[in-house]
Amino acid sequence: MPTRDQHIDGSPASGAHVRTSGSRSAKPPSSGDAVTPWLVLVLVVTLFAGGLFGYDQGVISGALRGIKATFSLSPLLVEVVTSWVTLGALLGALAGGELAERIGRKRAVLIAGAMFTLGAVVQYLATDAAILVAGRLIIGAGVGGAAVAAPLYAAELAPAAVRGRFVSGYQLAITVGIFLAYLVDGSLSSNRDWRIMLGASAIPGLLLFVVALAAPESPRWLMMMRRRTDAAAVMRKVQPAIDAGPHLDTIEAALRKDGKRASWGEVFHREWRRPLMIAIGLAVFQQVTGINAIIYYANQIFAAAGFVTEAARMTVTTWAIGGVNVLATLIAIAFIDRLGRRRLLLAGLLGMGISLVTVGTAFRFIAQAGPAAAAAGPSSAGIVTVLALIAFIICFAFSLGPVTWTVINEVFPAHIRSRGVAFATAVNWGSAFLVSQGFLSLVGWIGSSSTFWLFGLLCGIGWVWIYYRVPETKGQTLEQIQEMWKEKP
Ligand code: BGC
Repeated sequence: MPTRDQHIDGSPASGAHVRTSGSRSAKPPSSGDAVTPWLVLVLVVTLFAGGLFGYDQGVISGALRGIKATFSLSPLLVEVVTSWVTLGALLGALAGGELAERIGRKRAVLIAGAMFTLGAVVQYLATDAAILVAGRLIIGAGVGGAAVAAPLYAAELAPAAVRGRFVSGYQLAITVGIFLAYLVDGSLSSNRDWRIMLGASAIPGLLLFVVALAAPESPRWLMMMRRRTDAAAVMRKVQPAIDAGPHLDTIEAALRKDGKRASWGEVFHREWRRPLMIAIGLAVFQQVTGINAIIYYANQIFAAAGFVTEAARMTVTTWAIGGVNVLATLIAIAFIDRLGRRRLLLAGLLGMGISLVTVGTAFRFIAQAGPAAAAAGPSSAGIVTVLALIAFIICFAFSLGPVTWTVINEVFPAHIRSRGVAFATAVNWGSAFLVSQGFLSLVGWIGSSSTFWLFGLLCGIGWVWIYYRVPETKGQTLEQIQEMWKEKP
């Protein structure tokens, strides 16, 4: 073990840092990792943002029936109402990166909170389809903006030793949001209830705004704005147990080397190709391995597997998908900073691949038995499908779910971080959009079995790519990670 000198993020100090911090090395190793009330506030902001992301993504399927009855929507408008949150999120992610860069991480979260609230109120009060679609776009922009600003904020403020946990907390909140959406969809069944389902986000949106108002700004952003005194003040407040000076020196040195702020062009510069490819690659693999096909269409998959009544389907979707997703994310929270990102990713992708091949094979038997057999209740192949989907969700929840967001938010150097994160997040939303739109068509073209096998194959390709391309980043400061790209271009 190297001698440790605690930074704000509790990481092993570089040689230069030890020289400048002298007596600090006598501190107990865990003091800089302490989670202070201010850091809890940062975590609360992250949790609200994630929860709203999950809820707003998950709730629409239950609300659609009532919306259709109220506005007699054409099939095209049904699609628009469903998917424009994703479109708004894609644009919101790009705008969120720009805002996080220009006005700060905290204010970008504040704006996202305001958009959540406004979007929810507009949807609740919508008097026609156009207003409803406007509400969907506004809330989508809030989702996208928060998806960039909140984990970025958490990654910059969390001590390095627990950074993975902080950002995984964001993923945990997404899963809780999806689970709550399933529960709400299951319990509100009247056609008029869609206003409550969609309008409910106004309350957590407002809470997010209020909590973010009290939360501190990221010292790394303050340093980028040449506001060292403010950054030092925040650090003294957030992590009083550690010596702010040496840590700010490290951030300043990194900023000096790479410039304080950069254009979009710099994000795509050759020097940063590795972190960019890692972030984009994870963003794409997280989606093209099928998670949202299962989250969105679980109900239909279970119908094909022989769950005949709506109540049976709702129960199995809520608990086997929604509930398991929440619980299994806790595995990541426990292990991401101990076992590291790579091990979780590789183990998870292996499990996801095996589960998907199993689902594909089970569907071969289901197809052979024909629809009459499915109507008679779940067959053995149907039960195998449910078990394999549970295994898939568990494996995703401890790997590609949380690790993707963690790694995306830690690989970029400070001067391009917000834009890099925004770009990768937008790619993630774009991929989510394509997969969720394309899933049913794909099933129509090549059949259910081949579709799941294709997702399984993509898990295999993802595994190989991660094995060769994604380095371990656990326990290192953001500045140390940045140095890795220089060692091996
Ligand atoms: C993904 C979402 C997905 C969710 C499921 C997130 O990390 O970005 O697209 O729906 O995990 O838990």
